[in-house]
Amino acid sequence: MASKIRTTKILVDGGDPEETRRISSLIGCVDGQTTNPSLVAKNPEIQRRIASGHKFSLEEQNDEYKRIVQDISPLVGDAGVSIEVFADLSTTAEQMLAQGEDMFSWIPNAYIKYPCTYEGLRAAKMSVEQGIRVNITLCFSQSQAAGVYAATQSSKAPAYVSPFIGRLDDRGENGMDLIKNIQRMYKDGDGHVHVLAASIRSLDQLLACFALGVELVTVPTKVLEAWIAKGQPMPDQNFVYRGVDAAGKPLKPILYEEINLNKPWTSFNLRHDLTTKGIQKFVADFEGTLQQAQSA
Ligand code: E4P
Repeated sequence: MASKIRTTKILVDGGDPEETRRISSLIGCVDGQTTNPSLVAKNPEIQRRIASGHKFSLEEQNDEYKRIVQDISPLVGDAGVSIEVFADLSTTAEQMLAQGEDMFSWIPNAYIKYPCTYEGLRAAKMSVEQGIRVNITLCFSQSQAAGVYAATQSSKAPAYVSPFIGRLDDRGENGMDLIKNIQRMYKDGDGHVHVLAASIRSLDQLLACFALGVELVTVPTKVLEAWIAKGQPMPDQNFVYRGVDAAGKPLKPILYEEINLNKPWTSFNLRHDLTTKGIQKFVADFEGTLQQAQSA
């Protein structure tokens, strides 16, 4: 049975340029990269400096983030490098936008990551109006993805939406259904939003994304290395994704909703508890690095 030709762009999900270099040399080229505050906090150079007793100031943290994405930028293709703004639950759109404007000037191929919240989408809307490319992260519902579509409609470049598969699976819901539902909903749209499947934890999830033909996937090096070790297989027509948890128990399906994309972005339900938890985790990881450093 013939295998599918890969149309999906591959991004490395990480915060270490060495990993990107390694994957790129193994598969020929990497299309892009996503970073986030948790991944940057794990960067080996940051960890080494913390271990040697260095105390990072907020400004130094920002400089380190900039250095890391500047190292990665020339290693990747046209899917660019996604850089995440620092946002807690009270950060305003204007505060996010100010960071986004600065970060967008760091490298020529930046995408600015904003959280999928009311303030995050307000920042994204203002960003695309001034030509800043965006990636809306921490998306856990079809309604949030509809909000992304409506808020970024004036974008000249493709806007990315990042639905998180693994974190839905973690609580027993089939994250792959969310990807399918968003793709189906976007079929009625103008194509300006590209699905960037995120929070990929297994080879099976990666193959399922290839089978669905999602525009982009962001993948941790561990999963990419497993795919490479198997000879970079592609799913054939018999491929079936088994949505099961670690114990082999079927995940709960996420049902498709009929949503009209042509409504104002503010009319969509943008709330999701996993988005809130995700923001809190990124803040904790980011501040954890500073605290570790300060108490070292
Ligand atoms: C990428 O943009 C996401 O931040 C990342 O895929 C999240 O993955 P995780 O759920 O494994 O932390």
